[in-house]
Amino acid sequence: MVPSTSECASYVAQKTFDNKPLVLRHMRLSDLKAVAQLEQEIFLSPWSMSSFHKELDNKISTTFVLLWHDLITGYTTFWIAADEVQILKIAVAPDFRQLGVAAWMLNTILQESRRLQAKIAFVEVRASNKNAIGFYKKNGFAVEGTRRDYYASPREDALLMQREL
Ligand SMILES: CC(C)(COP(=O)(O)OP(=O)(O)OC[C@H]1O[C@@H](n2cnc3c(N)ncnc32)[C@H](O)[C@@H]1OP(=O)(O)O)[C@@H](O)C(=O)NCCC(=O)NCCS
Repeated sequence: MVPSTSECASYVAQKTFDNKPLVLRHMRLSDLKAVAQLEQEIFLSPWSMSSFHKELDNKISTTFVLLWHDLITGYTTFWIAADEVQILKIAVAPDFRQLGVAAWMLNTILQESRRLQAKIAFVEVRASNKNAIGFYKKNGFAVEGTRRDYYASPREDALLMQREL
């Protein structure tokens, strides 16, 4: 059976930032527009709204959104299958970066993955994305290989990073 994350918990994690709650919860249909808009602002080759919609129907996929004062300020999509977790996205709106928010999201994913018996986590990152590479290294990931010309628009290699859980 495909494991599923705890969908019934509306809030996956919660903490305070600037005296207002910062909340991580499962993405809902009503979030799709805001998530796709943030995605457009952040990524070079962004996913469309329908790509995020498909993730909602994918049994191995989970997307959490990060809310601050009801504003979507980040999100993360990951797949858990067998004993592996594949992180597809972690994104934080520019005004909320360098505050430990992405590390908090990542730790929540890894906790959930351990709970579902995952043993190893993978992520692919554009070779030029120094922020993300630094972020994952700081959080225990190491570069294990390169996928040549993995990305389009612009064409670029991916670094494959992994860590044990
Ligand atoms: C990568 C990203 C998610 C990090 O989010 P964040 O909330 O700023 O990260 P945190 O505050 O939890 O962690 C900060 C650490 O990440 C790395 N980092 C993040 N931004 C950085 C920057 N502008 N310059 C250098 N290092 C950076 C550093 O290791 C930093 O630790 P340090 O400040 O002690 O050096 C964010 O920059 C982002 O959304 N980038 C665009 C989307 C993306 O590329 N996602 C990853 C691929 S899916």
